[in-house]
Amino acid sequence: MKIAMLGTGYVGLVSGVCFSDFGHEVVCVDKDPRKIEMLKAGKVPIFEPGLDRLMATNVDAGRLTFTLDLAEALDGAEAVFIAVGTPTRRGDGHADLTYVMAAAREIAETAKDYIVVVTKSTVPVGTNRKVAQELAAANPELEFDVASNPEFLREGAAIDDFMKPDRVVVGVQTDRAAQVMAEIYRPLFLRDFPIVTTDLESAEMIKYAANAFLATKITFINEIAALCEKVGADVKQVSKGMGLDGRIGNKFLHAGPGYGGSCFPKDTKALARIGQEHAAPMQITEAVIQINEEVKRRMVEKLRDLCDGSFNGKTVAVLGVTFKPNTDDMRDAPSLTIVPALVGGGAKVRVTDPQGRHEGEALLPGVDWCADAYEAADKADLVVILTEWNEFRALDLGRIAGSMASPRMADLRNIYSEEVASGAGFTEYTSIGRGREASARAG
Ligand SMILES: NC(=O)c1ccc[n+]([C@@H]2O[C@H](COP(=O)([O-])OP(=O)(O)OC[C@H]3O[C@@H](n4cnc5c(N)ncnc54)[C@H](O)[C@@H]3O)[C@@H](O)[C@H]2O)c1
Repeated sequence: MKIAMLGTGYVGLVSGVCFSDFGHEVVCVDKDPRKIEMLKAGKVPIFEPGLDRLMATNVDAGRLTFTLDLAEALDGAEAVFIAVGTPTRRGDGHADLTYVMAAAREIAETAKDYIVVVTKSTVPVGTNRKVAQELAAANPELEFDVASNPEFLREGAAIDDFMKPDRVVVGVQTDRAAQVMAEIYRPLFLRDFPIVTTDLESAEMIKYAANAFLATKITFINEIAALCEKVGADVKQVSKGMGLDGRIGNKFLHAGPGYGGSCFPKDTKALARIGQEHAAPMQITEAVIQINEEVKRRMVEKLRDLCDGSFNGKTVAVLGVTFKPNTDDMRDAPSLTIVPALVGGGAKVRVTDPQGRHEGEALLPGVDWCADAYEAADKADLVVILTEWNEFRALDLGRIAGSMASPRMADLRNIYSEEVASGAGFTEYTSIGRGREASARAG
């Protein structure tokens, strides 16, 4: 089967590469000439573990190609996936559908034969019907079906998530489209991965409901963490004790500096907006959005406390700025709130991140970039662990403390403990959701 993939970002490129690995012929198309040039040269424009190798294998096998030319991609394709961005629209929190609708128009103007137009982008309920209207308006002759196929992959583990998904969700209106989608996902179906086939609206809603639920879970434990600090409990122990309950589960129950990334912030805002528009307010989601902002602000105050009430004149080393480890994605990362607060408060900020510099340089003005944690912490007054990259989990803390002007640590990912930090020579240590006594006990 031939598939066209429109958009070669984090979702489109991973999906295109994985579909070609299923054995399909995939043509990936993007508007960005720089990306297509890199991809044609065998280079991956984003950082996603394992993607370069899988891409090379499928290019070599002749199943995967890249082009700027939509007509070339659509020629003979039975399905075209729309995997373009749906960022937050300025001003009202709604998902911006400009790119999706433009893609639909371009497909309608270019396609010649029956095709299933599959929206993989995360879109508000009702969008697939609008896509169908757009297609019909732009090319009344075109025979087509639309399908909703929201994507659930996580950056940093995207290939595994795509190849071994918890489920695939497919929303369709016709048997013909259902058959094309079943054929595309046959390799997963044969291996007993659940495929939920449903209507368009339910498929669209599943994606927003799932993301809002996960954001709620993170925010819930962040709120519990704040209370733990007041009452002397240890949120790590609380998470463990809660997560062992099969009804709750241990995932997304780690307290931290607030959720960020390319999905949760914009998808929670979009869901809240959809609720308002339909007079069915999403009150839990609205609270989550607000609390998450407060969590980030609370982090800034935590750091200020550690700096004796003022950042002015202090040197602060920040370890990790991407929104999570194993990605170079900086979209809505907590660092974008926390680092500017440090810089704005008069601190000299030294940053290190294994993959974040490429994106981060433009987004974090006024900081110095360092090669590693040791260089960043040298003569600093405070070291902040902001993203839990593996290489920050086993630091030589003695070496770091020994090189600092005043050895203080804010461990915003609860990687270490008060006992370990003080054993290494840190005079002050703070983490998330651990009352002083509790963190000393945790060892
Ligand atoms: N990033 C994730 O982890 C993730 C996970 C699940 C779902 N999603 C959803 O998937 C969608 C895409 O997200 P992303 O992170 O891959 O975005 P992205 O910004 O990384 O990539 C979008 C790509 O689409 C291209 N593009 C835009 N308009 C185009 C057009 N008309 N023709 C060809 N190419 C075009 C852009 O040049 C860009 O390369 C969003 O709706 C997002 O919410 C993202």
